[in-house]
Parts: sequence; C-alpha cells; structure tokens
Amino acid sequence: MDENREAATGGQRYTDRRGFLKTVVLAGTTLATAGIPLAAYFVSPALEKGGGRWVDFGAVADLNDGETAMLSFEYMVKDGWQVLPQRGFVWARRGPGEAVKVMSSTCTHLACNVIWKPERQVFECPCHTGIYDAEGRPISGPPARPLAVLEHKIEDGKLQVYLTA
Ligand code: FES
Repeated sequence: MDENREAATGGQRYTDRRGFLKTVVLAGTTLATAGIPLAAYFVSPALEKGGGRWVDFGAVADLNDGETAMLSFEYMVKDGWQVLPQRGFVWARRGPGEAVKVMSSTCTHLACNVIWKPERQVFECPCHTGIYDAEGRPISGPPARPLAVLEHKIEDGKLQVYLTA
C-alpha cells in the first residue's frame, strides 16, 4: 500500500493523518516525560532558596549568663548544579536560666556585619558607625530598624537556630 502511495506521488514520501497523529502523540509523550524532571530540576532550587534550615549551635550551657556570644555557622547550599558554602555568624545572648535571644549579625542599614563591643555593651557596625544597644535596638547612626531576632529552640540542651539562605 505504501509503495502505491509513493508511486502515486511520484516517489515522494508523505504522511497520512494516522501517521501524523502518531508523531504528535509520540512527541507529546516524550516532551511530557522529559519535561517534568527538567522543570523540577530548574524550579526546585528556587523553592529551596526561599526556605531555611535549623542549624545546631551546640549546648546552651556553653553560653554564660548575661553574656553575648558570637556563634558561627557553615553549611552547604545547592544552587542549581553548584553546591556552595554558606558562612556567617549570629549573636546569642543568654538571659536568666536557659532564656536565649538570638540576633542576626546583619546590620539593617546596608547589611554589613555588626560586632559586639562588650566594654560598651553595644553592637557596632564598622561600615557607617551604626550603633545598636545590647537588645539590638538602633541608638545612633543610619540604622532605623533593630537587628532581626532569629527563631530558635532548645532541644536536648542544644541551641537550634532557624537560618534562611
Ligand atoms: S551598613 Fe551598618 S551602618 Fe551602614
């Protein structure tokens, strides 16, 4: 039958409606099969970026009452096909008992890292001399908002802080 069609068209190949539909269905199935994993590959890192993770900072007992301590962290973050280290630090202030306040080290002016000055009981930003009190409230310089207070919990005597990438 195909030979007759070729003969009738002068040796040129043509596709009938059934062949065309088979091709469309096959192409659609192939695209759907390959498309879902590809879409997940490109979309999932974007979704992960918006989220955060709980980071273990060790025993609360290691923090002295009334002192503000720098707690550093490092974890790996997947960004597309790359896995990159995420490093930084937070400030933890232990109150009476196990009460802990954890503050971001990121200045609310232009995101430099603030440093605790125990002799003056303030956080100082080296970039534009912004000053925050011990509770993270701005008291002089350009910052208008307090340092971010970070969500945390204590599990089995260990301080866990929720950090966003
Ligand atoms: S970035 Fe901290 S005062 Fe400007």
